[in-house]
Amino acid sequence: MFPRTRLRRLRRRNLQPLFRESRIVREQLIAPLFVDENLSEKKPVLSMPGVYRYAVGDLPEVAVRLHQLGIRSVLLFGIPKEKSSGAESAYADDGVVQRSIQIIRLAVPDIVICTDVCACEYTTHGHCGIVGEPSQEQDVINDLSLDLMAAIAVSHAKAGADIIAPSCMMDGVVFWTRAALDEAGYDDVLILSYSSKFASALYSPFREAADSGYQFGDRTTYQLSSANAQEAFRESQFDAEEGADLLMVKPAGLYLDVLAKVKMLGLPVAAYQVSGEYAMIKAAAEKGWIDERAVVLESLSCLRRAGADLIITYFAEQVVGWMDEE
Ligand code: PBG
Ligand code: ZN
Repeated sequence: MFPRTRLRRLRRRNLQPLFRESRIVREQLIAPLFVDENLSEKKPVLSMPGVYRYAVGDLPEVAVRLHQLGIRSVLLFGIPKEKSSGAESAYADDGVVQRSIQIIRLAVPDIVICTDVCACEYTTHGHCGIVGEPSQEQDVINDLSLDLMAAIAVSHAKAGADIIAPSCMMDGVVFWTRAALDEAGYDDVLILSYSSKFASALYSPFREAADSGYQFGDRTTYQLSSANAQEAFRESQFDAEEGADLLMVKPAGLYLDVLAKVKMLGLPVAAYQVSGEYAMIKAAAEKGWIDERAVVLESLSCLRRAGADLIITYFAEQVVGWMDEE
C-alpha cells in the first residue's frame, strides 16, 4: 500500500495539542451548591467527599472563590426548614434558594445563577411534585404539579436567578414555566430543562446531600428508563419545542449516546455528571485504585467529545485547580 496511511504522525508528542478535537473549558463548567437553611456552618456530605452543605451565610465566600477561579456559574439546591405535601416553602419569597440567590448576587454581581426547580427537597413524601391517587397507586400528578413548578420558577426569577432549571420531568413543564415567567415579566430568564433525565441509581449520594429521598415507590413513573434512547430523544425534542433555551442529559457518563443525539437538536446541551459518578471516582481514588486526576479529566473530556456544551460537575473546583497547575 502506497502512500502508506500514517495516522500515528498526528500523535507525535509535540504535535498532540494541535490535533486535540475538544477541550474542557472552565467558563463552561457549572458548580452545584447545596444550601441548607437549618445550618449555621457548612457540613460535609459523607457520601461525596469534598462536597458540603452550606449555610446561607457561607455563600458570599464560596461564590467569590469560585468566580476568582474562573467558574462563572453555580446551580443551587435548597434544603428548607419546613417540608409539606404542597411544597410551599419552595416558592416563598424568603425561602432558602430565594435568599441564596440574593446573597450570591450581592457578593458577585455577574456570576451566573442557575437554580434547580423541583419539589423533592420540599415535600414530606420526597417526590418531585404533587402526589395523589390517580389510578391504582399513589403517584405524582402531572398537571397538578405544573402550577407549583411555575410558582417556584417565578420566585427564583424574582430573586434574581439567570437560569431556572426544571428537573421534575413533568410533561409540559417547560411550556408552562415559560408562559409564567413571561407573564411575570421575566422573559429574559433562561430555561435549562433537565430534558432527558433518567431514573438512575447514581443519584443516591445526592439524596443524602439534598435530603430528597422519597418515602414510597420510586421515580420511574416520571423519570426515563435507562433502557430507552428514543424516548429520551423525544423528551428533549418536546422540551426544545416548548421553548427550552438549553437541554440536559443526566446522568452524563453512561448516557453519551443520548447526549450525542440530543446535541443534534441544535440547542446548547448540558451534561450533568451526577453524585454517583462523583462518588465512584472518589471512592476508587481513595483506595488508590485509580488516578483521580486522570480519570476526572478523561470523564469530562469525553462529555465534551460527545457534544456537551456545559458540564455540571461536583469536580468543577478541583478541575480548575488542576488546569492552573498545568
Ligand atoms: C431533583 C434532582 C435530583 C438530582 C438533581 N436534581 C435527584 C433526583 O431526581 O432524584 C440528582 C443530582 C445528582 O445525583 O447529582 N429532582
Ligand atoms: Zn425532584
